[in-house]
Amino acid sequence: MRIVPVYYYSSASGLVRAFAEQLGRPVFNLAEREHRRSEVDGPWVLLTPSYMTGNPANDTIPEAVRRFLRSAVNRRALVGVMGSGNRNFGVHYQMAARQIAAASGRPVLFEFEISGTPWDVEECRRILGDLDAALAGAHGG
Ligand SMILES: Cc1cc2nc3c(=O)[nH]c(=O)nc-3n(C[C@H](O)[C@H](O)[C@H](O)COP(=O)(O)O)c2cc1C
Repeated sequence: MRIVPVYYYSSASGLVRAFAEQLGRPVFNLAEREHRRSEVDGPWVLLTPSYMTGNPANDTIPEAVRRFLRSAVNRRALVGVMGSGNRNFGVHYQMAARQIAAASGRPVLFEFEISGTPWDVEECRRILGDLDAALAGAHGG
């Protein structure tokens, strides 16, 4: 069974990276140029934090995520979106993950705050495991 990879963005503080590395599956950091410029070889899941940068459009999508999604191959194979955020940002909570999900028509699979709790890690592993199984069934693999 193919294990769906997670492509994530994590800044220097590395909170999302710490979470991603506990998922027990292939994970790729879009902060690294090599991964940001790559194209996927099958279904994949995006994990993104939201970053209010104070620009006039209130844009919270990390530039590396935007760059990766410029590839039509990557956009087509995206199956779902997960987000890390902080409720202190109010109406902007999880804005990046939610905007990408809305724009792409893919579901938000999971959301957590900051680096997540052990429960968040377990729950996320379960959701992704179910997704692996569903995709294997859908593609006869
Ligand atoms: C400058 C800054 C802006 C942020 N803006 C938002 C935001 O608009 N919405 C949100 O839900 N979280 C926001 N957060 C919280 C981060 O998304 C969250 O802490 C995330 O886990 C950071 O991941 P990273 O350390 O891997 O980059 C912000 C954090 C920082 C430092």
